Amino acid sequence: MEVVIVPDAKAGGEIVAEAMARLLRRKPDALLGVATGSTPLPVYEALAAKVRSGAVDASRARIAQLDEYVGLPAEHPESYRSVLRREVLEPLGIPADSFMGPDGTAEDVPEACAVYDRALAEAGGVDLQLLGIGTDGHIGFNEPCSSLASRTRIKTLTEQTRVDNARFFGGDIEQVPHHVITQGIGTILQARHLVLLATGEGKADALAATVEGPVAAVCPASAIQLHPHATVVADEAAASKLKLAGYFRYAYVNKPDWQGL
Ligand code: GLP
Repeated sequence: MEVVIVPDAKAGGEIVAEAMARLLRRKPDALLGVATGSTPLPVYEALAAKVRSGAVDASRARIAQLDEYVGLPAEHPESYRSVLRREVLEPLGIPADSFMGPDGTAEDVPEACAVYDRALAEAGGVDLQLLGIGTDGHIGFNEPCSSLASRTRIKTLTEQTRVDNARFFGGDIEQVPHHVITQGIGTILQARHLVLLATGEGKADALAATVEGPVAAVCPASAIQLHPHATVVADEAAASKLKLAGYFRYAYVNKPDWQGL
């Protein structure tokens, strides 16, 4: 995998947005897998700025959701469907019918998971999947000890993840659902390009385990080591516990310009 260390979150957003823009110039109807949380926001802001300036046209892009809370009505402001409409679709000028995601309100949750997993494949697969990382090493909502071969399914959040996400629910952990639907690790690994973005000191331990630890279900993000095209973009704080940081910097500085991420 490639590890790119950037000075701060804004620089991380810019570099990932440029990778997405390059993809869209090459393939205007690319299927972009998007993540929620605070980390990807600078990416969406940077990409929206490129759209506004005419540097890229995202109107034909297709958007795929990574995960969703179970039981939150779609119109709830913190359902990931609502969040992505606000933060991705509207700013990028992407029509609502170019969006796909699991139905967190379905009565038959396992069926909704299987339907979404199939829909991703039928859409031709995700071209670029943007990932954040949880403080416990989760990707999507694949909590520690998720099967590395897992498909889209229901998961129970750890208490820590509910604490971490309570800030989106007015600080009230009781409002954070216990259950979620998430693309499985096996599903995520089918995307053509994985880009994991990590910013802030709070992610440093999880990122070190992801990049330099063994591939192990206890750190679900470590599964990206199995992917032939995985890129980690980390700010200085998130990269602060990487033993090979010097090598990663050296490799990036000496990288051919044409290569992109
Ligand atoms: C959330 C999301 C993940 C995200 C992670 C980190 O719960 N399900 O997709 O990557 O937790 O969030 P943040 O970027 O806000 O730290």
